[in-house]
Amino acid sequence: MLQNSAHSFLALGSVLRVLNPDSPQARSIFDLGVVSGIIFAIIFVIVAGIIVYALMRFRWREGEPDPYQLAGNKTVEIVWTAIPCLIVVALFALTARTMNLSDPPPAPEPDLVVTGHQWWWEARYPKSGIVVANEFHIPAGKAVSVRLESTDVLHEFWLPELARKITAVPGHPNHIWLQADKPGTYRGICSEFCGTQHAWMHFLIVAESEAQFAAWENAQRQPAAKPVSESAEKGFALFQKTSCWNCHAINGTTADVRVGPDLTHFASRRQLGAGIAANTPENLRRWLANPQRIKPGVKMPDFKFTDEQITQLVDYFETLK
Ligand code: CUA
Repeated sequence: MLQNSAHSFLALGSVLRVLNPDSPQARSIFDLGVVSGIIFAIIFVIVAGIIVYALMRFRWREGEPDPYQLAGNKTVEIVWTAIPCLIVVALFALTARTMNLSDPPPAPEPDLVVTGHQWWWEARYPKSGIVVANEFHIPAGKAVSVRLESTDVLHEFWLPELARKITAVPGHPNHIWLQADKPGTYRGICSEFCGTQHAWMHFLIVAESEAQFAAWENAQRQPAAKPVSESAEKGFALFQKTSCWNCHAINGTTADVRVGPDLTHFASRRQLGAGIAANTPENLRRWLANPQRIKPGVKMPDFKFTDEQITQLVDYFETLK
């Protein structure tokens, strides 16, 4: 089963691309990394070279006296203190410049409020009232201001292609800018240990053209689609009858509790379980059959649904485009 989900996951073509900056913020961090790396490499080559040279050239040989001692030589002392100081000052200046570029002051009103949960991410768009989970769309080429929160423990929002890494702290919102130079799908993860399923707290940022983003936003703003088949109707009844709605909201129904991911447009998302599997009807079946088996420790219990009930629920959830 686990192998299955890992397979579906890989099928999404998903490797965390840490050396592929695609925004001014990420590029400034990447550039600092390259410049620092070059400086460190030069220092390493010089120091290691001197050591190797000294080992070969000045090896002690039988009968040789102690070498001449340089202790207390002012010129030497000044030179080898000044050079490291200059390097540190230069690195400090470059770092301060990068911090300025990668982390500009927060906007007064966020475009997006992202909340870390054990073990998934929620995003609210205050201006349009949309609430989504694990897959957030943004307009490409525009700086999006994000307020980052957490409901439970510390999480770490890491989207190396677009932004700096930042901690989601319960009760203490942090701010970050998200910007994608061009349309594309970007994978992020939680990079601070936050419990058993820390490793499966992935999210996707989908950057789109202005028009595509507006269309997405408009679609997400609509209430959930009504079940069209008899089986889907039974699935919806089951959703209401069992305790699904104690955790999951679906706009346009009476379910409005958002402890777990909002399911209003569940079927429009690409992934299931915060990235553990592709969002296909087959994987959804497996998930409903026993979420604990796919994502051990996940807050969703095993409801012990029958096969028939699972079919009805899948039919219903698949209408939630
Ligand atoms: Cu959330 Cu690690």
